[in-house]
Amino acid sequence: MRRQGKMFVSLLIYTLTLVFPAGYASLPLVINTWPFKDATVAAWSALQSGGSVLDAVEAGCARCEMDQCDGSVGYGGSPDERGETTLDAMIMNGDTMEVGAVADLRRIKNAIGVARAVMEHTDHTLLVGQSATMFAESMGFIAEDLTTNKSLNIFSEWLKGNCQPNYWKNVNPDSSKTCGPYRPKATQTWNKRAQHANTHSHDTIGMIAIDNGGHLAAGTSTNGLTHKIPGRVGDSPIAGSGAYADSLAGAAAATGDGDVMMRFLPSYLAVELMRAGADPSAACKSAISRIKRHYSEFFGAIICANTTGHYGAACNKVPGLTQFHYMVTNSESSTPMLKSVDCF
Ligand SMILES: *[C@@H]1O[C@H](CO)[C@@H](O)[C@H](O)[C@H]1NC(C)=O
Ligand SMILES: *[C@@H]1O[C@H](CO)[C@@H](O)[C@H](O)[C@H]1NC(C)=O
Repeated sequence: MRRQGKMFVSLLIYTLTLVFPAGYASLPLVINTWPFKDATVAAWSALQSGGSVLDAVEAGCARCEMDQCDGSVGYGGSPDERGETTLDAMIMNGDTMEVGAVADLRRIKNAIGVARAVMEHTDHTLLVGQSATMFAESMGFIAEDLTTNKSLNIFSEWLKGNCQPNYWKNVNPDSSKTCGPYRPKATQTWNKRAQHANTHSHDTIGMIAIDNGGHLAAGTSTNGLTHKIPGRVGDSPIAGSGAYADSLAGAAAATGDGDVMMRFLPSYLAVELMRAGADPSAACKSAISRIKRHYSEFFGAIICANTTGHYGAACNKVPGLTQFHYMVTNSESSTPMLKSVDCF
């Protein structure tokens, strides 16, 4: 009986493999970085209730902003050197190639919403800092403190620990031992980039949505890097870096060490490779390889999807990241599927 059961399962798997061969795709599709399941659900239900792919990406990222996904998205996380949480976000329309983004956004919780307002109510692409806050307020967003007890605590522990870690180099006093203010050191020495990588200081939600009509959108939202130097902006709000979408080719979204990743435009690269016919997994892998060649120890991952809804992911194998998890929902499974890829 048990043997028959096993045979049945084997046969079932075999049949499913025939019906749904590897890389089987179906539309619509929502895919996002990390196991941020509620974000996937929010995006999927936006699509199911007749929303556009932009609505889906906005709803998914906004959900993460409200839930403070892992503390790495939204208010109350990743305080900078002054203890303030600031947000970066972007959204891209793969039909029109329009992008709206905000960076170093202060005192507004719904960064992805403001990014969308930049796209829909201005001819600009990226607004930053206090001016972005003023724009947001004029669009009806409420300004409020983004500090929480948790972010305050992270900040005061950091101060107590002599401001370690931090992101300064070639300065006096020695930034690896003491707090600032720092002055430039007369003689510059080349330092191997410090390994700050830590899964919980680099998470970002990156999301891709594709509907039945082949419309693509992508977006990101993050509160950046814990203890960042005020004004620091990473890859997330940069088109082609944090995310990219072209309804004629595919979409990608990246997460990880933004200071390094933004030098390589990995999302743009992956989309261009898919345009040239690369399989989404292979495109993702090539985008990671390109960075790896220069920064073998960078912390990062990327998700890719092509216009037919095939998808894949890749990540750089470093201590603390040997497998990367992401969420997928498509018509195969209307409840989000947790997917993982082995880093290489
Ligand atoms: C934050 O800390 C203050 C002071 O310790 C306390 O009164 C307040 O209840 C805390 N708030 C939350 C949300 O934990
Ligand atoms: C998407 O990728 C899959 C898997 O490589 C491939 O079979 C399919 O043809 C691709 N779709 C397009 C439109 O290139």
